[in-house]
Amino acid sequence: MSILSIRHYPDPVLKQIAEPVVTIDAEFRKLAADMTETMYAAPGIGLAAPQVGVSKRMAVIDCASSGEPPRLITLINPEIIEREGESCEEEGCLSVPAYYAKVDRSARIRVRFLDLDGQTVERDADGLLAICIQHELDHLDGILFVDHLSPLKKGIFRKKYKKILEQQREQM
Ligand code: NI
Repeated sequence: MSILSIRHYPDPVLKQIAEPVVTIDAEFRKLAADMTETMYAAPGIGLAAPQVGVSKRMAVIDCASSGEPPRLITLINPEIIEREGESCEEEGCLSVPAYYAKVDRSARIRVRFLDLDGQTVERDADGLLAICIQHELDHLDGILFVDHLSPLKKGIFRKKYKKILEQQREQM
């Protein structure tokens, strides 16, 4: 397995609508394994294929808290088929370093996806997992969590983020 490089906003691949996955072959499974390793190494709780420059509808998620055994979920061609309630929690993103903001999401969802064996799976999620799934599915449609901010807050984000990127360049 290998660690992949994570694309940062404003990389154009993050704005693309990702293509459905047609074949789950050895090459695809390697991508899923590399993405999983990349997510754990970051560390992060979710990573979508566009974040490593691959415009395909796949994401890996593990929302287990530290100390708990891993709970890896690989979502292929996922869709949210039911949603209920409201939630507003602080989010961050491996593609938007050092910036966090509260985002409105559904509190409970039901998601349908293919697993790595090509089997259709449906599962219910709430709490952090529900938020994480909605965040990762957005990536597949070219949407970042900062795209949900009000125009005013997005203006503040753009200014702050410019500084964050400048600081990162100086450190490199
Ligand atoms: Ni993200």
